[in-house]
Amino acid sequence: MKEYILGIESSCDDTSAAVINNHKLCSNIISTQVIHEKYGGVVPELASREHQKNIIPVVKGALHEANISLEDISAIAFTKGPGLLGSLMVGVSFAKSLSISTGKPLIGVNHLHGHLLAHTIADIGEEDVPQQDFPFLSLLISGGHTMIVKVTDYLKYEIIGQTIDDAAGEAFDKCGKVLGFNYPAGPIIDELSKKGNPNAFTFGKPQIKDLDFSFSGLKTSFLYSVRDNIKNNSSFIEEQKYNLAASLQKTIIDILLDKLKEAVKKTQIPRLVITGGVAANDGLRSALIDYAEKYKWQVTLPKKKFTSDNAAMIAKVGWHKYKNNMFDDLSITPKAKIDFFDV
Ligand code: KG4
Ligand code: ZN
Repeated sequence: MKEYILGIESSCDDTSAAVINNHKLCSNIISTQVIHEKYGGVVPELASREHQKNIIPVVKGALHEANISLEDISAIAFTKGPGLLGSLMVGVSFAKSLSISTGKPLIGVNHLHGHLLAHTIADIGEEDVPQQDFPFLSLLISGGHTMIVKVTDYLKYEIIGQTIDDAAGEAFDKCGKVLGFNYPAGPIIDELSKKGNPNAFTFGKPQIKDLDFSFSGLKTSFLYSVRDNIKNNSSFIEEQKYNLAASLQKTIIDILLDKLKEAVKKTQIPRLVITGGVAANDGLRSALIDYAEKYKWQVTLPKKKFTSDNAAMIAKVGWHKYKNNMFDDLSITPKAKIDFFDV
């Protein structure tokens, strides 16, 4: 039976809409806001305004590409948080208006839960993805979050470790800013790393207990090291950019994988997934494949297009909630900070 879920994502700087039928994606339109590049990070007010401009054409585009009309959808899923409040408001208000005008039910989705199911989406034209085995551990690494989550079922999640300060994506972005790169610096550092020596420089690694992470010390260590070297050689960054990128990236990957190793040991769950924008990092992806071989882990890497923010993952969680009759009413409001357990 055709049961289409429309997904809407507007938590940060991407306006996205997608249509999903069962596990299969029918469309996924993403409008990435380039306006923030020159500011070194997302400017909340500009983000809200861009969402206002984009949301109607993006939703129309998603319906058009899926070759359906509003009457064909079974429910409207949207991101209810966490994220930038002004950005969330645009998506939530739009979803509510759509619900009033069409009579279709609403499903609020926790953005982080979307990331956790991103690898279970069958792409447009693709056969179904293999049945997901539970439990698995997900390393969720984005610009705002870094956590290890134990996923015991499609809508059952438990955080077993998380950052106590910066997120992994922030470490890439803030260190990239020191090198003069625009936001987001993660993909730039990833590319430069391919031509550099990962052992050229050593940066401070944190000693954090249990399965928690910290990246603010690395950021400071990186900043001081670059600043000290510039004092002696004003061309230092230009001459060493490949080695700096590779060494920084290696340090971040080591921090992430050391904790993942500990998490597998502690939980005895050798089934792993990475997700969130940083999961697109080629260095991390290949290091994880090496670890999988060495430690006999079963690793699933999501398609790169589903690692960063997208509405397909919101529609996917929406589909599971739809099947469980988990709907929201018109009183729902977005939350910038939302309890992780708020399904
Ligand atoms: O999940 P995401 O699109 O947005 C949220 O933060 O929710 O993640 C964006 C983050 C940025 O910090 C960006 O620099 C990082 O993901 N990122 C990468 C790569 N692609 C995106 N970091 C490292 N390597 C990449 N290839
Ligand atoms: Zn995200």
